[in-house]
Amino acid sequence: MTTSYDLVIRGGTVGSATGSFAANVAVKDGRIAAVGQGLPAGAREIDATGKLVLPGGIDTHAHVEQVSAGGLLNADTFESATTSAAFGGNTTLISFAAQHRGSDLRKVVDDYAALAKRGALIDYAFHLIVANPDAKTIQTDLPALIGEGHASIKIFMTYDLIKIDDEPLLDLLLTARKNRALVCVHAENHGMIAWMGKKLVEKGYVAPKYHAISHPRGSEPEAFNRLITAAELLDQPIMIFHVSTAEGAAVIRQARGRGLKVFAETCPQYLFLTKQDLDKPGLEGAKWMCSPPPREAADQDALWQALALGDIQTVSSDHAPYRFDETGKLSAGPNPNFKQIANGLPGLEVRLPLLFDALVSKGRPEFAGRGLEAFVELTATAPASLYNLPNKGALLPGYDADIAIWDPQKTVTITDEAMHDLTGFTPFAGRSVTGWPERVIRRGEEIVADGAVKASPGSGRWLGRKGGWAAEPTGRLVADMDPATNFGAKLL
Ligand code: URP
Ligand code: ZN
Ligand code: ZN
Repeated sequence: MTTSYDLVIRGGTVGSATGSFAANVAVKDGRIAAVGQGLPAGAREIDATGKLVLPGGIDTHAHVEQVSAGGLLNADTFESATTSAAFGGNTTLISFAAQHRGSDLRKVVDDYAALAKRGALIDYAFHLIVANPDAKTIQTDLPALIGEGHASIKIFMTYDLIKIDDEPLLDLLLTARKNRALVCVHAENHGMIAWMGKKLVEKGYVAPKYHAISHPRGSEPEAFNRLITAAELLDQPIMIFHVSTAEGAAVIRQARGRGLKVFAETCPQYLFLTKQDLDKPGLEGAKWMCSPPPREAADQDALWQALALGDIQTVSSDHAPYRFDETGKLSAGPNPNFKQIANGLPGLEVRLPLLFDALVSKGRPEFAGRGLEAFVELTATAPASLYNLPNKGALLPGYDADIAIWDPQKTVTITDEAMHDLTGFTPFAGRSVTGWPERVIRRGEEIVADGAVKASPGSGRWLGRKGGWAAEPTGRLVADMDPATNFGAKLL
């Protein structure tokens, strides 16, 4: 007897951004073929009784095989990072093709593409980091690369060697607008951070915990407002990365309330950690050092609220893996001051379990009983929509069969040893979470099962993303750029 489906996942509860229901999921040729009851047998069957069948996670902010602003190569390869991501329930990753001062953006993209093609075992795309905003980059390379499917740009408003000042920021926003790309921004006030850092070190305040103090809370809303003002001038959609403060979230809320095309992300480190985590004996606190730093418990509450209200639409890992040794955090020697320690922490593998535990298992009150829907929305459906990832982020017929089967009862204590990335530690070690992704399926192929990785390096596919404005998570089209709503922009 011939069977029409390659795989049927039977007996589980299917979760989506709008609701959950008992259904079988059938897969054919790497795509979802049907979702419903009473589906005929597949060539393969998975019994998902008691399990949640969810879209694979999409992590849209991870630094992989990337050279930092300070010239340090991070610890992961595309193989290790995507293996770790897959174990954490993810099937798609957006990392970076990172230009530095003086480097050629096209060559940068070619180099990262070659690395990912060799190593990635989940699907992937790149944000183009622009740190050398010269005429060739802005007028020639960016338009061409966006046209070829790299439809998001990332810039930094801080970090000495890669920051973009206000004038080139406007150049970039205009190029993005003309080519219909999204501009993602690390927005902190550089002068305040640099000044605070110098003053603290001069006075001998050098331990990792002073990193948090060196990033004043006000550096975030100041930079957000400046960025938003520039984006408003050109009517250009922006994505504000890793929001950490209540004040930052309030700026975003106000801007969105005015109808501006402002989107935002936060990360587990701002939802689950605080600046107290950096206050450890010796240099240990370096493991919790990222930029912006974790803040206060009240900021965590404000960020959860901003997620529930839709002011912040997605939660990414900002995985930035630096080992706690001379290749990473301690690359400046055994006694660095906090300014000499690489910023960033790993998170690809635990982003989804931490969020699942908070939203689904513990039921954060802000989400009023809709934690599962919020989990799917924030980690899969909204990212696919915001970053133009076609046929990703939902279990709908015709979509890629990217599926994570979760055991909602399984309690796991996170440990350094259990992680599959190459950082060697996780800042979330010791936490227990309930809910774990047991099987992960990418385009119909099982890539994690029975605690083992099944996919081969290089089997992930690059996802071309056309320019075009993202739809809101609700499906409403966000931006109709023609004609410009802003008089100044019409002249350019
Ligand atoms: O501390 C962080 N987040 N390091 C990675 C680079 C960045 O700022 O996103
Ligand atoms: Zn950043
Ligand atoms: Zn980052």
